[in-house]
Amino acid sequence: MSGIEETRKIAAGLTEGSYSPGFGNEHSSEAEPGALPHGRNSPQRAPLGLYAEQLSGSAFTEPRAHNHRSWLYRIRPSAAHPPFVRIDNGNVRSAPFTETTPDPNRLRWNPLPEPAPGTDWLAGLWTLGGNGDVTQRAGMAIHLYHANASMDRVFGDADGELLIVPEHGELLLRTELGLLVARPGEVALIPRGVRFRVELLEETARGYVCENYGQPFRLPDLGPIGANGLANARDFLAPVAAYEDVEGPVQVVNKFCGNLWAATYDHSPLDVVAWHGNHTPYVYDLRRFNVIGSISYDHPDPSIFTVLTSPSDTPGVAGVDFVVFAPRWLVGEDTFRPPYFHRNVMSEYMGLIEGAYDAKTAGEGGFVPGGGSLHNMMSAHGPDRETFDKASAAELKPQKIDDGLAFMFETRWPVTATAQAATADHLQSSYDDVWQGLERHFRP
Ligand SMILES: [Fe+2]
Repeated sequence: MSGIEETRKIAAGLTEGSYSPGFGNEHSSEAEPGALPHGRNSPQRAPLGLYAEQLSGSAFTEPRAHNHRSWLYRIRPSAAHPPFVRIDNGNVRSAPFTETTPDPNRLRWNPLPEPAPGTDWLAGLWTLGGNGDVTQRAGMAIHLYHANASMDRVFGDADGELLIVPEHGELLLRTELGLLVARPGEVALIPRGVRFRVELLEETARGYVCENYGQPFRLPDLGPIGANGLANARDFLAPVAAYEDVEGPVQVVNKFCGNLWAATYDHSPLDVVAWHGNHTPYVYDLRRFNVIGSISYDHPDPSIFTVLTSPSDTPGVAGVDFVVFAPRWLVGEDTFRPPYFHRNVMSEYMGLIEGAYDAKTAGEGGFVPGGGSLHNMMSAHGPDRETFDKASAAELKPQKIDDGLAFMFETRWPVTATAQAATADHLQSSYDDVWQGLERHFRP
């Protein structure tokens, strides 16, 4: 593990030009000249004495457009490891979520409390809830993290891909495929099975994680929007090969079917010298999102703000969508401009990366960066009274919403809270009050 200064130096050297751009591209990269074989994936002897290894994120036989795999050329094959043994799961929980009764109430949490000294990203991971079943590769989990130490161990998640949403504190992600920096306002994705270590670039780090057990996130179809818009493929940045050649004990933690398992390797598994393929981590700056909305009246459903979607087996119904509420203009005529009152068959978890959200100004503790709200299947929600009154009377001149960055994990299945989330001190007890006092205006 490097000290924070060294980590900062490494991160500062990573500019946009240090990455390989394009969502789902067939990238190729080598950290040493000649490390990448050409013309074949598995030559009789791989270059530079490396081992060739395929990492498959999809079934071998999935359609080409959705086939995910990368070829890794590494100092030792991943197979060279001792047995994994169970370790404590800490505050990590997995589907099926059965600790509590699914709750139809609207729930809202304040940010996670301060972690104990020496809490690394994995130890600081705290599961709020989720749905599905890890063994069926369906559903998702919502985690938050609050850490104050860099990992000196390595983590890999066999149960799903991890969409990391930093809210406070920049992260250096050292992955098998190379280095990524993820800052608040950006998101990073670690594909299923890819091993990585999280190092802190500030004293503390806080944020959200969507663990997606289902089909890998992809860009949504654009339909009549056309060939461009929403999240543009070229803004997704994959790392280039960067390896560590470390001999000595390294703890590797593997999340498998809901439990954490660990083995002590005699070398670092982040030893991939070259790779090619499309099963890659990436980072994306949410401020690059091309926000599309109404230029006449009403506003579209928030699906128009979908950054990434994980389809389920029902066309048009996502296992989970990742949606961002980015700075945008509101210009609708004769339109109630904040999000309308609604009840939704999909379940919505919302978090806040910075600033405020335009439908939620009131209530105990409020809706604050690092906090979150859960509006489960068919639970009624919308603007609070103050927002309703203000927006109903506002002069409808063009208005820029630019004081916050909120996001949503929206999923087809209800979210069941973990016991620790349902009983947490930072669960707000009077969130319902937000919708009290909405006056009767009916005049027949
Ligand atoms: Fe909603």
